[in-house]
Amino acid sequence: MCGIFGYVGPRTNGAELVLEGLKALEYRGYDSWGVAAVPLSFRPPSRNPKDKKWIPGQARDDKKTIIVKKKTGKIGGASVADIPASSLALGHTRWATHGGVTQVNAHPHADCSGSIALVHNGIFENYEEIKRALLKKGHRFISETDTEVAVHLIEEYAKKLAFPKAVRRAFMEMKGFNAIIAMRADKQEFVVARNGSPLVVGFGKGENFLASDPAALLPHTKNVHFLEDGEMAIVSPDNVRIIEAKTGHAVSVRIQTLTWSAGQAEKGNYSFFMLKEIYEQPGVIKMITKTGAAQADKLARTVRSSYGTYMVGCGTAAYAGIAGSYLFSKIAHRHVNCAIGSEFGYALDFLGPKSLVIALSQSGETMDLLEGVKKAKTKGARVIALVNVFGSSLYRLSDEPILIGAGPEKAVASTKAFVGILSHLVLLSFALAGEAKKGQKLLHQAAKSVDDVLGEASVKRLKALAAALKDTDHIYVIGRGLSYPASLETALKIKEISYIHAEGMAAGELKHGPLALVTQGTPCIAFLPNDETYGANLAGAMEMGARGGMIVGISYKPHEIFDHFIPVLDAGEATIIPNVVVGQLLAYYLTIEKGLDPDMPRNLAKSVTVK
Ligand code: G6P
Repeated sequence: MCGIFGYVGPRTNGAELVLEGLKALEYRGYDSWGVAAVPLSFRPPSRNPKDKKWIPGQARDDKKTIIVKKKTGKIGGASVADIPASSLALGHTRWATHGGVTQVNAHPHADCSGSIALVHNGIFENYEEIKRALLKKGHRFISETDTEVAVHLIEEYAKKLAFPKAVRRAFMEMKGFNAIIAMRADKQEFVVARNGSPLVVGFGKGENFLASDPAALLPHTKNVHFLEDGEMAIVSPDNVRIIEAKTGHAVSVRIQTLTWSAGQAEKGNYSFFMLKEIYEQPGVIKMITKTGAAQADKLARTVRSSYGTYMVGCGTAAYAGIAGSYLFSKIAHRHVNCAIGSEFGYALDFLGPKSLVIALSQSGETMDLLEGVKKAKTKGARVIALVNVFGSSLYRLSDEPILIGAGPEKAVASTKAFVGILSHLVLLSFALAGEAKKGQKLLHQAAKSVDDVLGEASVKRLKALAAALKDTDHIYVIGRGLSYPASLETALKIKEISYIHAEGMAAGELKHGPLALVTQGTPCIAFLPNDETYGANLAGAMEMGARGGMIVGISYKPHEIFDHFIPVLDAGEATIIPNVVVGQLLAYYLTIEKGLDPDMPRNLAKSVTVK
């Protein structure tokens, strides 16, 4: 749940490169940030060829201490102009786990001497007992974090061992899922270790990079090595050595080429990434319609030959899974089980070698999902990943990765990846039913309908609705069938970025409790598409209206009980797609009305790499 970026090479603006990298990664964590840099010698480089110790560009600070700058809050317009020239620099954006959001608790952390710095992603589970032992040995701690213990542990081992060995030994003692990068003032190299939390090495020419997310490497290189669990890397300007942490044996470098372009990961003319990503959705749907059919056919064969299919995801991706279960049932007459990633591990005892797990994820790094998938694999289940990030942990873990193809998604609240997953699931359901063409036709209609939702007239309506709802404390969203996951997703979007309490529910559940909360003026959003749920869901809206609820109807036709009507063109079973886009835009404009930042909502992070 944090962004990590590192630079080692001949350039001397290391701190700036790292700051830029962190800005690109800030969506991964943004309560505080920090940069550590080894200053270059303030003396001019020696021209004496006998001076073997000197390598141009190498760190050479007489006091051998690392400069560390840390701040709380978002990076915004921060500068590192006060950090001296450096060719070895490392940075981190934090999402606090151990210890509050303070400058001292921000990463990088340094050892007692200030000559070793470290950043960390994950949770160092046994840090307390190790800290006690280190305190007895005289180490001084200044933060409340688990991370600081790791750097002192390395310092302790480095008294007797070469630096990479010291890092390796310390890392092997760390329990939990962790990724660490350590650097030392007198060596122009990083020592990196990964177990569970993502890390990527980016290869440049005579320079190398490290990042927690490959998208941050795009301005510099597309050639990367994704570190596997249990791997370490020793990264210097012109060499990258990969070793197995457990044995210390060399592992060969596996260079892969990233497919995204740097421009795709930029905001362009949009004021926020979320708005950009919402507007990219018609393009994503059209692209999947064109390119996803062959994949859907192949996947359909796998589903047919499996005994029991399970869709698993977290957050928005879990709601895509619920939608998938309705699509499978309705279109393909097939049963699919859905589970939330964090719960899947407790309910998979009956999986076997014929079971199929379809894991859904934008990032491919969500820890809860990865854990469940790993457990399923131990039961022999086959795993297909529908994932947006090439080379991500889930991508590599699955037997068959399928890329969602939504392009880089940076706003914390997932939008286009969700719609991308839905589009693939529509195609898959129709492929299973032997009606692939029909799936493509409906997706075409869905793309048109989304275009309409994003059009001027519709946006005007949604802005007016947002203005009317911005001061409300609670919003209820109801739906049935495919509109049930649409309700859950709409409510999730509203709460995560506008901080208004919103509850999505199956309309039938209203009278089992939530109706008690509806009083004069309570906003109630109802999805009323042109399907078999229309009548029953309208009844739910009427029940709320009868108790004073202010009814927002999202439908293909108006109705007299609507206080606000948001028209959505019918796209058959794919109407869930434009319906959800209405929810996304409403959440977005509520957030803008309230003067909040939709891209980086409080307390949240895009990539949830801790349990
Ligand atoms: C976080 C994000 C959500 C996302 C969820 C699952 O909570 O903010 O937008 O739906 O993680 O992430 P994944 O990358 O696995 O889809």
